[in-house]
Amino acid sequence: MKIMSLRTSNNDHTENDLMTATKIKIAKTFKIGISPNAVVGSYNDWSTSFEEIIKQGIYNAPIIALQEVLRRVPPESRLATSVLDVGAGTGWLGTCLHKEGFRKIHALEPSEGMRRVLREKGVYTKEFPESLGTGPCSVPSNTYDVVISSGSFDEGHIPVTGLDELVRVAKKGGLVLIVVLMMKLKPTEPYTGKLEPHMEELEGKGVWIKVERRVFPNFIFEKEGVMFTFRVT
Ligand SMILES: C[S@@+](CC[C@H](N)C(=O)[O-])C[C@H]1O[C@@H](n2cnc3c(N)ncnc32)[C@H](O)[C@@H]1O
Repeated sequence: MKIMSLRTSNNDHTENDLMTATKIKIAKTFKIGISPNAVVGSYNDWSTSFEEIIKQGIYNAPIIALQEVLRRVPPESRLATSVLDVGAGTGWLGTCLHKEGFRKIHALEPSEGMRRVLREKGVYTKEFPESLGTGPCSVPSNTYDVVISSGSFDEGHIPVTGLDELVRVAKKGGLVLIVVLMMKLKPTEPYTGKLEPHMEELEGKGVWIKVERRVFPNFIFEKEGVMFTFRVT
């Protein structure tokens, strides 16, 4: 599948600066052993400039998530379809979904800085200012037609058990879409190596069915990503 390019600048110098700054942010935010509090602090600092990496085509996970939702939910169903964007960040995805006819879009996002940027978009009708998988969760069970997580399952981010929460908040028959960095699925990775086995465990228990596992190029910095689509049973 061709990835949309949202480049707006031809200025090589600015682009190189953005790449360097992004690599520094990534090294800090995805450090092995990083605490959830440090992750949230890092996104607070990153919030006002984060979206540039989507606009400049460096980070493509939310674009892939968007394409997948549009592929799975036909235009005539979008108005009535409820969506929870988990680890919603700056709300880039919700803004695109709104343009495509979705109106019931909720966000779960622990970083206050990210939520501030998201709120300015004016498209999310409810915010859950909390972390998923690290404690009690106020999102009601059996509520959403589509639950999406783009780039939010990682070290210090949503723990592997957060998968169970995605299932809990989705309606029976609803879709759960998860976009992750391919290299993070290696069994040797201390955190994400457990992610795919847990997905399979849930499938073994009959909790959901894997509809698709699609590898795509250029999740970030031209590294492959995986788009998982599940249907809750
Ligand atoms: C790489 S950003 C992705 C943002 C957005 N989904 C996107 O693709 O543009 C990861 C987001 O996950 C959020 N996050 C971190 N830990 C989380 C948790 N336990 N539950 C929910 N979100 C979390 C961060 O605050 C951050 O906004």
